[in-house]
Amino acid sequence: MKRGCIIAIDGPSGAGKSTVSQELARRLNYLYLDTGAMYRAAALQAKRLGVSWDDPQELARMCAKLEIDLVLKKGKPCTLLFGEDVSEAIRMPEMSMGASRVSAQQPVREKLWELQRRIGREGGIVAEGRDIGTVVFPEAECKFYLDATPEVRARRRCEELRGKGLAVDYTSTLEEVQKRDRDDQQRALAPLRPAPDAVIIDSTDLTPDEVVEVLLRVVAEAAGRLR
Ligand code: DC
Repeated sequence: MKRGCIIAIDGPSGAGKSTVSQELARRLNYLYLDTGAMYRAAALQAKRLGVSWDDPQELARMCAKLEIDLVLKKGKPCTLLFGEDVSEAIRMPEMSMGASRVSAQQPVREKLWELQRRIGREGGIVAEGRDIGTVVFPEAECKFYLDATPEVRARRRCEELRGKGLAVDYTSTLEEVQKRDRDDQQRALAPLRPAPDAVIIDSTDLTPDEVVEVLLRVVAEAAGRLR
């Protein structure tokens, strides 16, 4: 018996996916699956081992033994790498670029797809990433593609990093966001793009609560159709 629907939320960085996905999961009492955190943890492990983010053979060897878990600690999503809580370390700007680089490599994607599908197979999940509706769960009952202008996404990212005490400047953050968009959209493997049946939401002028309300309405309509 399935626990519930699969809700896929894709889109570029800074579109607000994490905030709204977590809130949606909380409201529906669903699991929250942050697939970006998994790519970030893989990039961190490669760095620790001195493995290049662009070397498929070395990454394949690393992935054969890779252990990543996503858990809730006091209601907060945490990422474990071989049991160690790396939730803070994977949010550093270097790991954003590292995650984007390792995510273009087949052995890394295959390893993480398997983990993600295992976590989602019972349904009752809100999964966010770049390829959830297109590749990981093409059968998802609800698919969203959340977007916003690069300027607004860069501003949100600056605020997030400054909130963590990091000194970041807007212009370089905007360049980083635009480079990552290009790399994620242009890679051969599971590129970032909306699924043909995704509902596209522009969050540029919406608050996270407003986006959640839109998502809940679409989910309720889909649930009505499935009944
Ligand atoms: O969502 P995020 O910023 O934490 O993701 C970090 C990088 O990981 C992103 O630039 C691309 C990659 N990624 C991916 O290729 N596929 C996913 N499903 C999630 C993330």
